[in-house]
Amino acid sequence: MPERRDVFISYSRTNTDFARKLYAKLQAQGFTLWRDRSDMEGGEDWWQQIQEAIENVDTLVLVVSPGALKSPVVTDEWRYARSIGTRVIPVLAAPINFNEAPRWLRKNDVMDFRYARGFRRRGFLGLGRHDPEHTLRWEKFIQQLKTPHRQLRARFTVPKPENFIERPREYKALIDTLLDRNNRSPIAITTALQGGGGFGKTTLAQAIGHDPEVRDAFSDGILWLTVGETPSALTLINQLIEQLTDGPASYTSPNAAQSRLRELTDKRDILVILDDVWDEDVTRDLMRGLSETCACLLTSRRLDIVSRLGARSPITVDEMTTAEATALLVSRLEEKPRDLNPFERMAAKLGEWPLLLNLASAKLCELVQLDGFSAEEALTELERRLEAKGFTAFDDEGASRENIGQRDQAIAASMAVSLDRLGDRRERFFELGIFYEDARIPFEAAATLWRATCGMDEGQSEELLRQMHRLSLFVSYDARARAFRLHDVIRAYARAQINGLPALHRKFLDAYGVARWADLPPEEPYLWDHLAYHLI
Ligand SMILES: Nc1ncnc2c1ncn2[C@@H]1O[C@H](COP(=O)(O)OP(=O)(O)OP(=O)(O)O)[C@@H](O)[C@H]1O
Ligand SMILES: [Mg+2]
Repeated sequence: MPERRDVFISYSRTNTDFARKLYAKLQAQGFTLWRDRSDMEGGEDWWQQIQEAIENVDTLVLVVSPGALKSPVVTDEWRYARSIGTRVIPVLAAPINFNEAPRWLRKNDVMDFRYARGFRRRGFLGLGRHDPEHTLRWEKFIQQLKTPHRQLRARFTVPKPENFIERPREYKALIDTLLDRNNRSPIAITTALQGGGGFGKTTLAQAIGHDPEVRDAFSDGILWLTVGETPSALTLINQLIEQLTDGPASYTSPNAAQSRLRELTDKRDILVILDDVWDEDVTRDLMRGLSETCACLLTSRRLDIVSRLGARSPITVDEMTTAEATALLVSRLEEKPRDLNPFERMAAKLGEWPLLLNLASAKLCELVQLDGFSAEEALTELERRLEAKGFTAFDDEGASRENIGQRDQAIAASMAVSLDRLGDRRERFFELGIFYEDARIPFEAAATLWRATCGMDEGQSEELLRQMHRLSLFVSYDARARAFRLHDVIRAYARAQINGLPALHRKFLDAYGVARWADLPPEEPYLWDHLAYHLI
């Protein structure tokens, strides 16, 4: 274990001379310093030695220059120091382009020790008493080094997703939004993962929170907060403060809590992941407490809220690709099946919907491990159950909508969270289950249906469709073309909730006044395609 010292000097080769002299001057002032880094190099555990040294100093003095900004070793050193809460004081050794510097550095007061006028004789390194400006600057620096400080450690509180199946399209899009394309430094942006229930927003956000590049960039921490349907921003702000300080927080005034949070996040590169956002005002109050260097990633089913909270480049998370879906389905099997085709077909049948695939994958694994089926036999058994019971065959029957943690255990519990928002109009959503599978449903067709079932007028039905869309209940919604589409499995779920399906079909057709092809109005593309289906 290395002994404790005052200062570690981090510098690039291009500033060796500057660093040596700085070292000598600080030593002359009575500071203990970590030896020149080059003394440590060469050994296998070189990086570990550096880490230990940085852990055992009060301050890392960063010698800033164009060379230092480019040096991976210097970057690793300051990042590590910041991540463990060792104070970093930058001093300028050569002019740099501040636009290319990491953002935290741009915001810092960088001590300017460049060789100002008369450097060779009287500049910083010669620091003549007769140059009051340099003397003052130097004294300020020494004072800063002597002042005890309490630096916050970086906190990483994101739960690790179990069993994550990679989704490169969404993942890469999100990384590109959060990190600067050129130097991979963090961008203080508000962005979002949006989409329907159980399509994998939370899981993807968790994976991003553990991505090494993202962790490197947001070196002051990545915080995770489940916003849910909590009515109070104050509770949530207290939770964030607790995460940042690792101690209890019980602010009772929202203003005081917000300013404390702002202070704790000031000039820090922190990514705050706000999972499962439902309430605009609560989330806005919470975000007001974050300093402008923080980035925010929201996950939400509420498309309207995501956009009102100013999320830029939101990423829609919907069905998995066939390959991803198949990988998830077989992910719990110790021995992967040799022929993936039948599993691929099952994944397609499950609508490539992660929630359902995950439940099916757990059942597959249970059948293999506990009941001794082969993977292929287990799949056949799964198909049999699906035939018999429909898509809720894999639901955990005890899962309830009230328990947020159980929402991914059952389709019904997941759907209920959105459907509850519709109040007594949830029946209208179920009624959409009579439309043909995977069809583009014109707004007018839904309006006709609802006129027949509850006497809604066209304006009311459009408003209801818009509300359903904002809750991400559709896989697509095109306001211009005035049509929407339901996810197959969600449609099947809705359909299963309808009492008296044939009667509902009849009601729908009666509303059009058609009983034969010949009666069909010419401007009804949906019915032209699907009349036979509704007549059966
Ligand atoms: N990439 C993935 N790899 C493995 N499992 C996944 C993946 N994405 C989602 N899942 C599984 O699917 C289920 C639903 O995912 P998740 O909770 O992330 O969805 P969500 O979009 O956040 O849903 P909600 O709107 O209810 O919050 C979870 O049980 C999760 O384990
Ligand atoms: Mg979620």
